[in-house]
Amino acid sequence: MNTEFLKSISIFIGHFHPLVVHLPIGIIFFLFFLEVIIWFTMNNSLKVVRIYLSFFSMVTTLFGLLLGYLLSAEGGYDLELLEKHEHSGQILAGITVAIFLINLFFAQKVFFEKLFKGMVFAAVVALSIVGHYGGSLTHGEDYLALSQISDTKNAEKIVIKDINQAVVFSQLVQPIINQKCISCHNAGKMKGGLRMDSFEEIIKGGENGAILKVGNSSQSELMKLVNLDPSEERAMPPKGKTPLTSDEKQVLAWWIDAGATKDKKVSELKPDTKILALLKKFEDGAVDETEKLPEVSKIEEKTLAEISQLGININPLSKESNLLDVRCILNKSSWDDKKTASLSKIKDNIYVLELSQTNITNASLKTIAEFKNLNVLFLQNTNLGDSEMNQLQKLEHLEVLNVYGTIITDKSLEVFAKIKNLKKIYIWQTKITQNAVEKFNKKFPSVTIITGSLVI
Ligand code: HEC
Repeated sequence: MNTEFLKSISIFIGHFHPLVVHLPIGIIFFLFFLEVIIWFTMNNSLKVVRIYLSFFSMVTTLFGLLLGYLLSAEGGYDLELLEKHEHSGQILAGITVAIFLINLFFAQKVFFEKLFKGMVFAAVVALSIVGHYGGSLTHGEDYLALSQISDTKNAEKIVIKDINQAVVFSQLVQPIINQKCISCHNAGKMKGGLRMDSFEEIIKGGENGAILKVGNSSQSELMKLVNLDPSEERAMPPKGKTPLTSDEKQVLAWWIDAGATKDKKVSELKPDTKILALLKKFEDGAVDETEKLPEVSKIEEKTLAEISQLGININPLSKESNLLDVRCILNKSSWDDKKTASLSKIKDNIYVLELSQTNITNASLKTIAEFKNLNVLFLQNTNLGDSEMNQLQKLEHLEVLNVYGTIITDKSLEVFAKIKNLKKIYIWQTKITQNAVEKFNKKFPSVTIITGSLVI
């Protein structure tokens, strides 16, 4: 088990914090109303439940506090608010512990009645403060969802009739960001202290300062992060989300290089022919023949739900297509060949498949070899070797293959050479020799072999 896995599990458990904190809220209020009733009715027999309620308010508050710590590891909260929420939460926890203890030790003392009522009142006040800060921190509704729905759903359609007249930022750049980044970088959810919902916010940057170096895309934090391998911890968008396409990255880079302007049109920024050809693809009605997706029929929600239950995230590739992006993100160590076999039910629809760090063997590779529309395959950090790679020859549409951290040797390169459409292979930390890579590069210049951890 690796630490990343533990971290994601603990954050997942932490996601129950907003739910769990309703327990102490209920119990503390109940304790309060009970005191009011006792005071009015002078019904002393009700006093016996005080000790139990005190106990449960303490336990549930401490539990909520613990889950809160787990959740805060996720990051992306307004730090000042978070600190206030945390400190008031600690004070509340202290008060509930004190209430329980005075119940346990001082219930017979004369000063007990007043002290107890005072403390319960203090707990209610503290609770309101904690709740107020907690409420301000609260995020969108997709909170308890482990698999998040594709961002493309919220993206609005921008119509560009003539690319030369298009405003680069608002019609090209912002729509890309709205589609792939905005779900975590907006006013409500400021991951990394960064908002990307307006030109000004993007220029302002995040908690580590500016994310753009105007005029120099390769020195811009934004481009560095989107160019990382999707499996990298810091990659943007993070693992599990649809990465930017190479066209989208080029648009962002060009915009930054051309001065990261707010209102300039494409023609004013004088794109060269190469960029203009690329931008043309964003014109309305433009169809890029080379990137036309295979058409497949829709899979029933029920089947998808059944397969997801095995511990895999399934997302639509885009709004227009029935193709799927399938990723094993949590519980990687329990993913095995039997589970891979169950993916056969959706085999023609799988376009992206991520099974890194899982326990798959040759049997899984045989199954995967039948996924005829597979375009991107992540198998890094598995126990796979040369004989398993043999199976992949059949995958005619495979363009990107990540096998870093496996035990494959130069022999696998010979197999990869036979995959017709392969464009990129990640082989960092394998047994493939530099010599073999150089030979391969000469023979197959259209394939990029990435031997380092960075993708440029
Ligand atoms: C699923 C949520 C999510 C999505 C989608 C997402 N990000 Fe992030 N982003 C994060 C988190 C979490 C951090 C903070 C990471 C950290 O602190 O290590 C972050 C941090 C950043 C930072 C660093 C900010 C700073 O100042 O440190 C940049 C830049 C960034 N994201 C850009 C992007 C871009 C560009 C996209 C879209 C292509 C994107 N993000 C999509 C969650 C997301």
